[in-house]
Amino acid sequence: MQYILPAALLLLLPLEGLAHAHLDVDRIHWSRHSGSRSTPTLRARNNTDSPYKLEDMYQGASFLNDWDFFSFDDPTHGLVNYQTKADAIKKKLAYVQGDGTTVLAVDDFSTVAVGGKRDSVRISSKKTYNGGLFIADFWKMPHGCSVWPAYWSVGPNWPAGGEIDVFEGVNEGTANQYTLHTSDGCTLSQNNVRVKGVVGNANCASSGNDNTGCAFRETDNRSYGKAFNMNSGGVYAHLWNSKGIKFWFFPRGEIPADISSKQPNPDSWGTPSAFFSSNTCDMPSHFYEHSLVIDTTLCGDWAGSTFSGDGCPGTCAQAVANTTIFQWAKWKINYIATYQLA
Ligand SMILES: *[C@@H]1O[C@H](CO)[C@@H](O)[C@H](O)[C@H]1NC(C)=O
Ligand SMILES: *[C@@H]1O[C@H](CO)[C@@H](O)[C@H](O)[C@H]1NC(C)=O
Ligand SMILES: *[C@@H]1O[C@H](CO)[C@@H](O)[C@H](O)[C@H]1NC(C)=O
Repeated sequence: MQYILPAALLLLLPLEGLAHAHLDVDRIHWSRHSGSRSTPTLRARNNTDSPYKLEDMYQGASFLNDWDFFSFDDPTHGLVNYQTKADAIKKKLAYVQGDGTTVLAVDDFSTVAVGGKRDSVRISSKKTYNGGLFIADFWKMPHGCSVWPAYWSVGPNWPAGGEIDVFEGVNEGTANQYTLHTSDGCTLSQNNVRVKGVVGNANCASSGNDNTGCAFRETDNRSYGKAFNMNSGGVYAHLWNSKGIKFWFFPRGEIPADISSKQPNPDSWGTPSAFFSSNTCDMPSHFYEHSLVIDTTLCGDWAGSTFSGDGCPGTCAQAVANTTIFQWAKWKINYIATYQLA
């Protein structure tokens, strides 16, 4: 149903054009996405050497059954009212389209006073993970001034169980950031593995008020915000095992055939965008029992603090009151798949 040729895609793309990113006192994230179908006649390659077996497929009508809705105050101090599942469904902020796409939206129909909070959703997978290969295919992501979306995972007793920020950014950002947050004793080492991303902060551990985390910035300019959406999104893939955590971004139209055929072989994907090596960060003691999380907050610790610097007009609270901005603040999720070694 969602199989569309790349040329046709261009005609279907709405002019969505705001981006977002976020920084927290608690954490710093940016995000990424994944997944398109390529033309099978050009790319067909029966990759039977995948060492991975599909574990969970979050997609379609049952998608919302497998996630909990977080409805407390945003720990990153955003101007959002996270909705319960019942309210999110009633207000049409969380639903699955007829074509199987899951939509998670920020309210773009209610009047909100300057300084008030806007309705949004934050969901967490009921299942938890201690590693694996994660492939997330998004058609669209939320973006816009004040908007801070993230696709990430987190363990218990933050930062003890660790946090992996796969796809995240704020405001009108144009590039994804991959970030880890941990307890003491984890750093990003410059090693001999080549990556495409640009190295950021090296200390992954949160201490005192410094929750910057360690990060790589994506270099593909279709990895975030308006440009991501104009390209009908793409796939964010990450491999988390005892050697570390590797990340790849594939814009739609460039998604490897073995991902589309559900027989993924990361060894065939080429240079990753980011690699956090276990040489300087023991994996099992810093990352465990992770739930996957998808959320969109507004302003708060990251989008709020960088709002003006990112070129957004007025104040962040004024942006939250501007309903027009939020027509682009939607996740459109094709699927999220998890794999384990067969
Ligand atoms: C690849 O080949 C195997 C073995 O012949 C077959 O079972 C499988 O369905 C094929 N997969 C695709 C995607 O063609
Ligand atoms: C994105 O990067 C490509 C390749 O470097 C370049 O040709 C293109 O102009 C860039 N697009 C934007 C919007 O910056
Ligand atoms: C609200 O946001 C839209 C879209 O960014 C912008 O065009 C408009 O000028 C804004 N309105 C106000 C009152 O700031």
